[in-house]
Amino acid sequence: MNPVMGGLSLRMLKNTLIQAIEAGANEIRRFTDIEFKVSNKEGINNLVTEVDHASEKAIFGVIQKAFPDHYILSEESGEIVQDSQYKWIIDPIDGTVNFAHHIPIFCISIGIEYNNKMVLGAVYNPVLNEMFIAERGKGATLNDKPIQVSKKEQVASACMVTGFPYTYLDTPNGPLQVFERFIRKGVPIRRLGSAAIDLCWVACGRFDGFYEHKLYPWDSAAGFLMVEEAGGKVTDFEGGDYSPYQPHIIASNGIIHDELVKWVGDKL
Ligand code: IPD
Ligand code: CA
Ligand code: CA
Repeated sequence: MNPVMGGLSLRMLKNTLIQAIEAGANEIRRFTDIEFKVSNKEGINNLVTEVDHASEKAIFGVIQKAFPDHYILSEESGEIVQDSQYKWIIDPIDGTVNFAHHIPIFCISIGIEYNNKMVLGAVYNPVLNEMFIAERGKGATLNDKPIQVSKKEQVASACMVTGFPYTYLDTPNGPLQVFERFIRKGVPIRRLGSAAIDLCWVACGRFDGFYEHKLYPWDSAAGFLMVEEAGGKVTDFEGGDYSPYQPHIIASNGIIHDELVKWVGDKL
């Protein structure tokens, strides 16, 4: 089946999505053994490298050649506003701090919305050569093999992952308080440094759950669809419908979701 959306086939969109990811990955590989410039955005450790910009430029080149009238929202360049039903949401390197320190946990993440609904997503880690792809209604794959979330039944025996914002959020029930709750109860909780990979690793069952207090659309656009299409659940902190345009996220295998919402919300 090759559904048509607004005159474009899903296959055309998916081909361009994969080409865009490959173009970004080639730029990242080009810098493997050479020095690259690293600078700060706001704050002292919110980094951006020249490789983020090079990856983004290569990705833009592919998308704009194929679909010059599509809307683009991308972390480093902001928005290219177009009157289009299609919106590409791009993180040219998710896990930039890892990348800048040669820690091999980073990826390119691209989600595509059609009429304000995420329909396609791809996340690629060029070091592990892991390509995750999700298509709304058709499931999620890792290197072309279908993936599914875990079957864990309780948070107490779950393996969790989270992330922290660059600038500490000094709010009640903030990142450290929630983190402490898991640690005090002896629940293993990791911090990989790439929200898109965190979500994909929930989707393929390596983790049972993920939450974070402050994400941007490009961090979660592809990853949240990955979790949903792998049979999991993604909500805001109240357990309500998820939107990548608000900061809070809880993602899980679905089975532990209601319980996880209580853990994160301090409502146990
Ligand atoms: C960051 C990563 C990290 C998360 C941060 C994000 P970046 O994205 O996804 O895991 O904790 O909130 O900003 O800056 O590496 O693209
Ligand atoms: Ca990011
Ligand atoms: Ca980034």
